[in-house]
Amino acid sequence: MNLDWDAIYREARIKLEKRLSEYRLLHSISVSDVAAMMAERYGVDIDKARIAGLLHDWDKNLEDEELISRARQFRLESVSSGEDFAALLHAQTGAVAVALEFPDLPLDIIQAIARHTSAAPDMTDLDMIIYIADMIEPLRSQGNLTPLRTIVGKVSLEYLFLKSFEMTMEHLIRRHRFIHPDSLKVWNSYIARERHS
Ligand SMILES: [Fe+2]
Ligand SMILES: [Fe+2]
Repeated sequence: MNLDWDAIYREARIKLEKRLSEYRLLHSISVSDVAAMMAERYGVDIDKARIAGLLHDWDKNLEDEELISRARQFRLESVSSGEDFAALLHAQTGAVAVALEFPDLPLDIIQAIARHTSAAPDMTDLDMIIYIADMIEPLRSQGNLTPLRTIVGKVSLEYLFLKSFEMTMEHLIRRHRFIHPDSLKVWNSYIARERHS
């Protein structure tokens, strides 16, 4: 199916204005821009990256209770992981909500949205681009992101993803935050792959 990507972008932006805070909307636009730039550098579909980046935080401004009840409503299994991880749920509930709101969008966009917080052991190029773009977009100021930003386009997407993931894990440990068991699985699977390569 031939999609009118510019029309989808405009429609998504109008809808996001009603769902997100001003900061979160600007962050989403910024993730979209960075994702498109990365897609061009790494030979990935630019339109898909642009739209996935724009829509990735669709449910980000929902309260924890709302996220938990939405996850139950959508029968998402991770809801059993408890309320400590409610903040992570916005990726998965958002993915389902986006699929319902924009039924013509290809499933790889929906998957990239679903995987943008806890990642997955088998990240596709588009998944990795959204994960990384979410982290390095220029409006993000916490942490030292310069080393990551400067190697975009110079190293493989997988290396860039692993470095981003490593920074997230370090950040969680330093701040004494919970680490989701799924994130540990992702970490171990990439380390195992690195050892065997
Ligand atoms: Fe997010
Ligand atoms: Fe985000």
